[in-house]
This record gives sequence, structure tokens and C-alpha cells, in this order.
Amino acid sequence: MTTASYPALRLRRTRSTGWSRALHRETSLSPANLIWPLFVTEGRGAEEPIGSLPGVSRWSVDGIAARAREAVALGIPCIALFPNTQPERRSETGKEALNSDNLMCRAIREIRDACGSDIGVLTDVALDPYTTHGQDGLVDDGGYVTNDDTVEVLVGQALNQAAAGADIIAPSDMMDGRIGAIRAALEREGHGNVQIMSYAAKYASAFYGPFRDAVGSAGLLKGDKKTYQMDPANAEEALREVALDLAEGADSVMVKPGLPYLDIVARVKARFEVPVFAYQVSGEYAMIEAAAAAGAGDRDALVLETLLAFRRAGCSGVLTYHAAHAARLMAQ
Ligand code: PBG
Repeated sequence: MTTASYPALRLRRTRSTGWSRALHRETSLSPANLIWPLFVTEGRGAEEPIGSLPGVSRWSVDGIAARAREAVALGIPCIALFPNTQPERRSETGKEALNSDNLMCRAIREIRDACGSDIGVLTDVALDPYTTHGQDGLVDDGGYVTNDDTVEVLVGQALNQAAAGADIIAPSDMMDGRIGAIRAALEREGHGNVQIMSYAAKYASAFYGPFRDAVGSAGLLKGDKKTYQMDPANAEEALREVALDLAEGADSVMVKPGLPYLDIVARVKARFEVPVFAYQVSGEYAMIEAAAAAGAGDRDALVLETLLAFRRAGCSGVLTYHAAHAARLMAQ
């Protein structure tokens, strides 16, 4: 050995026993770090498995309330809701998003009845589950998603969700200026304590495929979302997005997708020192499930290692379809 410090310094020394590894562990993971995304569908007593997301189902609102109770029991502090709007309720302008009795609002109220304030309800703001073209906003004659008109509708959607009892408004649309507009409207309408978690750095990613199946927009989507979601090549631009959303009043920011963008998480955390979340998206979930099914890795170990990686990178929490499973593993 030529290294001067050897053998006085042996980094294997602290790794040599379980108790010592526990003592030196730098990062912790608990159910409190998880947000569980859930898909809502019409009916009562309905469970619809999603083919491209093995192990994940859409639930009718009674089932969603049951999942919320399950989350509370597992120590998961927050659930995120996504509606699978009936085809006849979708339109060019996505106006169902403004209906105070839409699937999302009914689910929020049923969760409140079941769990009171024992759980946080995070709601997605974007028009894609409500439009016939599958885009997140209003589309002009040339197929371009218009910004300022869309923001006006998103403000209405956010107020509708807040009035139904949402705790955290999470705009996932990537329009410019929407955080400031939504914050101002929430304050004006008496929802001062409703939080905003902005999908600040959301990339135009190939990892969203199964999600679009789950909310029924996959077959509808024409084109892509590259004129509003970010270019996967860009990192500086993510920092600018985060800076703007914070200045406009975001309480916390999200990076999405998750694992392929941990460099963004780490840079955002280092630069801004604010609560950062990441979304381990549907395609990432599907990759882990496919790897496990193919015998290419141990499912439980893959799940926990990836979640720990988010924490190490600087995340306060992670939106993951594995939330309930992971919480159960942690309880063992
Ligand atoms: C849409 C939205 C998407 C996701 C969350 N909100 C898909 C998209 O942008 O097309 C993806 C989540 C996932 O893949 O798990 N506003």
C-alpha cells in the first residue's frame, strides 16, 4: 500500500457490524417521507387494475377513502389524487375541471368524511384528465397550448379543489405565471392556509406512459408536451423555474421524473434550501416491477434503495406508487 493514511484509516471499520452501520447512517427514510398517488374512477365499490402499472388500480371514491384510511394507519401523511374522467365529461376546454361535483371534488369530500384532518390531500392542477386532446391546457387553432388563457382556467380549477377541501394544490401544467396567479386567488378567496407544491421542474419525459393510461389520456393525446414541459437536456433552466415559482409563492417545489433527475434535486436543494419533493413517476414504477418480474432484482430492496436515494439527494419526500408497500416494509 502506498497510501500514507493506510492502515490508520480504514473506512471498512465502521461498516463491519450492523450496529455500527446503523450508528453511521447519514440518511433516514420513514413513511412520513411518502406521498401516495391514487387514481379515482366513477362508481361505487369499483376497482380497476391498470395494465401498464401492475399492482396499481383506479378506485371509486369509497375505495379512495379506504386507501386514505390505510395511509393514515401506515403513517403516510399525504395522498395525491388523479381523476379518470368519463369520456363524455371531457371537452376541448376541459371545463369539467371547474365542476364542484367532479370526481376529484367528490373524492376529497369523502376522504375528509373518513379521515378528517389526519391526512393531507394533494390535488393535481392541469387540464389533461379533462380535455379531449389530452393536453394540459387550452389549445389554439394551430395546436399550441396557450399560456395566459390556460392560467385563468387553472386558477378556477385550483379554487374548485380548495373549496372542496384540498390541502396542497400541485400545479403540474408548467404554464408560466400560474403559481403567482393561483396564490393570489387562494388568498383572495379565503384559502390562505392552502399550500402550493409546484411541479417546478417537470420534464417532457418518456416515463409518463402508464400514467396517461391510468387517467385515460394516452389514446387522446395528439403530439407531445415539449412546448411547456422542460427539455431533459436542461438543468440551469430548472433552477430558473424553481426561482420563479418560489418568488411567486410556492411553499415547496417538485422535480419530476425522479431517479433520472436526482442531479436536479441535489442542485435545487443546494441552491434554494427549501422543501424539495420528487415524483418517482409511473414509468419508473413500471421499470422496477418489470425488473422484479424478470428476476433481475429483488423488488423490496429496489423499492427501498430508490426511495433512500431520493432522500440522500435532498428530498423531503417522494411521490411514489410504491408508498403503501414501502411503508409496510419499513414497519417490519
Ligand atoms: C399531467 C401529469 C402527468 C403526470 C402527473 N401529472 C403526465 C403528463 O404530464 O403527461 C405523470 C405522473 C406519472 O407518470 O406517474 N399533468
